[in-house]
Amino acid sequence: MLENKKIAFIGPGAMAEGMIAGLIRNHLAQPSTLSVAGPRGERGDELVQRYGIKYYANNHDAAHEADLVVLSVKPQRLERVLKGLQNSIRPNALVLSIVAGAPIQKITTGLLHSRVVRCMPNTPAMIGEGITVWTSAPDVDAEQLEMARTFLTALGEEVYVEEESYLDMATALSGTGPAYVFLFMEAMVDAGVHLGFPRRIAEQLVAQTVRGSVDYYRKRLDPVHLARLRNEVTSPGGTTAAALYFLEKAGFRTAISRAVWAAYERSQELGKGGKSHSPEQTSASNDY
Ligand SMILES: NC(=O)c1ccc[n+]([C@@H]2O[C@H](COP(=O)([O-])OP(=O)(O)OC[C@H]3O[C@@H](n4cnc5c(N)ncnc54)[C@H](OP(=O)(O)O)[C@@H]3O)[C@@H](O)[C@H]2O)c1
Repeated sequence: MLENKKIAFIGPGAMAEGMIAGLIRNHLAQPSTLSVAGPRGERGDELVQRYGIKYYANNHDAAHEADLVVLSVKPQRLERVLKGLQNSIRPNALVLSIVAGAPIQKITTGLLHSRVVRCMPNTPAMIGEGITVWTSAPDVDAEQLEMARTFLTALGEEVYVEEESYLDMATALSGTGPAYVFLFMEAMVDAGVHLGFPRRIAEQLVAQTVRGSVDYYRKRLDPVHLARLRNEVTSPGGTTAAALYFLEKAGFRTAISRAVWAAYERSQELGKGGKSHSPEQTSASNDY
């Protein structure tokens, strides 16, 4: 429980709602201690009715009384929001940012406030099944680190890293990761339909195969390399071997490696100010 800490969400969008739902579902916070601020009254009313929390039309009103201020606006809005929040945050309050690609230094200088935690969650956080990689500025004290850790458990697993450079890597791997998984699943479902399955059945087969495979990997008592699990389903001259041959021939691993690297480079670029780009401008795509 976050011990009656007041938590304000600046930016009442999808991620903020996922966090609010997780905090309440896991009895980590009382609705009366939570507030959101954003420009659209209808969205505020929706969250008030759904969760019994407070809504403010003005960011300052939510932030100035909070112990924990969560920045959950889109990256394009961040600069203006930081400027508007200068002098709104109590000196001992903790600011926790989930804004993709926004370095800690941008937030500390934008807010004139040094107690900042930067996080990279992912969308399964909406149902408490996410994974968040996070780090902190030097002025965040031990109690605030524990507060941040407890807060993040509402979203699923959390991994603290000492160096901020890991945040761009996490953005490319776990932050963007659900998109790779969904694309892979979509391709499998389409292949199932191509074979002749009704789409509904293809979707069920694929979703449970992915879920079951993940559980089979993670719930084993003996940690095992993924390649061993793959070998278990690959009999000599069999169906899996025939399929894997084509995946390797198509450069499946390289495509994934290059895609993750491209996301990493883009995350670094956005952190430096986000210049415009063409689809194949990253060095990760140079050898295509
Ligand atoms: N979605 C993900 O997978 C994911 C993963 C990791 C990190 N993130 C980060 O999480 C952040 C939020 O993402 P999201 O998907 O929740 O976005 P979202 O649904 O668009 O939420 C952003 C919210 O901010 C509000 N807003 C706009 N201008 C504002 C202002 N000046 N002051 C206060 N609130 C304002 C928006 O209101 P209106 O709708 O009225 O404009 C909206 O409710 C982003 O920075 C993103 O990088 C997202």
